[in-house]
Amino acid sequence: MAGNVEQHREALIAAACAVRAHAHAPYSGFAVGAAVLDEHGRIHAGANVENAAYPQGWCAETSALAALVAAGGRRVLAVAVCAVAEHPVAPCGGCRQKLREFAADDCPVWLAGPQGLRATHSLGELLPHGFGPHHLPS
Ligand code: THU
Repeated sequence: MAGNVEQHREALIAAACAVRAHAHAPYSGFAVGAAVLDEHGRIHAGANVENAAYPQGWCAETSALAALVAAGGRRVLAVAVCAVAEHPVAPCGGCRQKLREFAADDCPVWLAGPQGLRATHSLGELLPHGFGPHHLPS
């Protein structure tokens, strides 16, 4: 993809915050939106989807990744998460692993609220020494 991923930061955060309005979170009341930038410069967004059978719900990041794959994307170049909380909301452990399937260690993960960017981490910071395909026998 041409250009620097930083140029997509505000659009990615805006997409994450916009899709947050569609979260299905009647049990926790905690709405989250996420957006991922693919290798073609496209943005894919998703919200958390809870379920009355609580463990069957899933996170916003997982929804965004599913949208990326459904659209034919195979790489994640940047991630934005949008939520309203005292501390910036970072992807849960399971979503860090799911992101790691498609993203490199230096992939920026932008943590945001409706007012914009609050914190930046790389995926490698969030998931050091992560399990990956290189661990599997070839
Ligand atoms: N959640 C996300 O969607 N993403 C995160 O990064 C953290 C947590 C969701 C899962 C659940 O629906 C609600 O937030 C409360 O945990």
